[in-house]
Amino acid sequence: MITAIIVGAGHRALVYASYAKAHPDKLKIVGVADPVTLRREMVAKEYGLTPEQCFGSAEELAAKGKIADAIINGTMDRQHVPTTLPLLKAGYDVLLEKPFAISEEEARELHAAAKKYNRKIMICHVLRYAPFYYEIKKRVLNGEIGKIMNIQTAEHVSYHHVASCFIRGKWHRKDICGSSALMAKCCHDLDLLTWFMSGVNPAKVASFGGLHYFCRKNAPENSGEYCLLDCPIEKDCLYSARKHYLDHPDRWSFYVWAGMEHMNNPTLEQKEEFLKRKDNPYSRCVWKLDNNVVDRQSVMVEFADGVTATHNMVCGTSRPMRKIHIIGSQGEIHGIMDDSRFTVYHIDLRPGHEYSETEIDLNVHGDTTGAFGGHGGGDLRLAADFVSLLEGNHPSISCTTLEDSINGHLIGFCADKSMEENRIVNL
Ligand SMILES: NC(=O)c1ccc[n+]([C@@H]2O[C@H](COP(=O)([O-])OP(=O)(O)OC[C@H]3O[C@@H](n4cnc5c(N)ncnc54)[C@H](O)[C@@H]3O)[C@@H](O)[C@H]2O)c1
Repeated sequence: MITAIIVGAGHRALVYASYAKAHPDKLKIVGVADPVTLRREMVAKEYGLTPEQCFGSAEELAAKGKIADAIINGTMDRQHVPTTLPLLKAGYDVLLEKPFAISEEEARELHAAAKKYNRKIMICHVLRYAPFYYEIKKRVLNGEIGKIMNIQTAEHVSYHHVASCFIRGKWHRKDICGSSALMAKCCHDLDLLTWFMSGVNPAKVASFGGLHYFCRKNAPENSGEYCLLDCPIEKDCLYSARKHYLDHPDRWSFYVWAGMEHMNNPTLEQKEEFLKRKDNPYSRCVWKLDNNVVDRQSVMVEFADGVTATHNMVCGTSRPMRKIHIIGSQGEIHGIMDDSRFTVYHIDLRPGHEYSETEIDLNVHGDTTGAFGGHGGGDLRLAADFVSLLEGNHPSISCTTLEDSINGHLIGFCADKSMEENRIVNL
């Protein structure tokens, strides 16, 4: 049995840790480190921890030396490297949330430390475990579409997602959270590009984007500053906090209601009062906040073998969606993750034919989206794979060690540099 300590007892770490509930023979949670007393107490209650197993920070835990096999590090972006460095030194292997670093320098520092202390770091690239991408990867590896020539991916970040995370939420400013919107949201997609390229290095990156819609100049006429306090057009607004959060109280609840977690099952009336507070960003007008991350960004990559790839991140869409189209010398794969379905195309030379198409419907094959955790089924599969890696098993095709994750992160850092400096960046 692998023993692990939760560092950063927030939303994400608790998702992975819940694997211990479902598989108590495989994983045991034996500690928690978090500066927030309430969160430490919640975890202690959930996993039966004693006060000696609870720590005020990663640093305090590291000072104790090694008291478990591994760490589940779910701190926020800016804390990933500073909290992981002392834990590596103390001798822990680490499951680390993405983006694992907020700069190229930090990424290299972490990599050097993992090598120095000979520790394993696995990055939470959950999409590699989603049946949709896993099945596509297997087909690419089997050579079903020949040699890859081009990959096109897109992430459509919906209107409620962008509002809750990148305008009103924790990732709304790079100077605060540490990550750009591209890195916070799409380092998964950039990782998928490098995963499908199986070790071929990216060589050049170019990118365009900006914040053009969610800014004051686009605020509807007569709009107020606070949806629930002074906005005469709230009833007709697509970004009304009432419609986003009170009419859908479970949507993004772990972010929107995080400030009420000390209350036991708050009522809708209490939630409305909480939203009405002037210091609550979740009821601020989405066009009048101080957000500075982009609301769209396009990235172009050329790999060392000449393969080209593009990724488009667009925020404020009606339907949330991730798309992929891989074009190979012998065929193509095209699909939308949220449909749990993709199509494989092949050249068909028979008279009267042009191409053949085979639809792979994961809903029909029983591997339904979300049946085993969030992110299209990826979350808990990833936790299981981390345990398997620590048990000494051969890494799965999805396993993302720090080395595997670096190229995808580098594409993101270089894309931001390209966009900001208006130039092509050579890796
Ligand atoms: N893999 C994915 O698909 C995915 C999805 C969403 C978010 N994320 C990432 O997961 C990470 C965590 O996000 P979240 O919403 O769960 O965060 P959160 O804010 O809910 O939790 C972070 C916790 O870290 C604690 N913390 C801060 N400093 C600490 C320290 N020095 N030692 C120990 N704990 C400390 C905080 O008190 C907090 O409880 C982020 O980096 C985010 O980008 C990943």
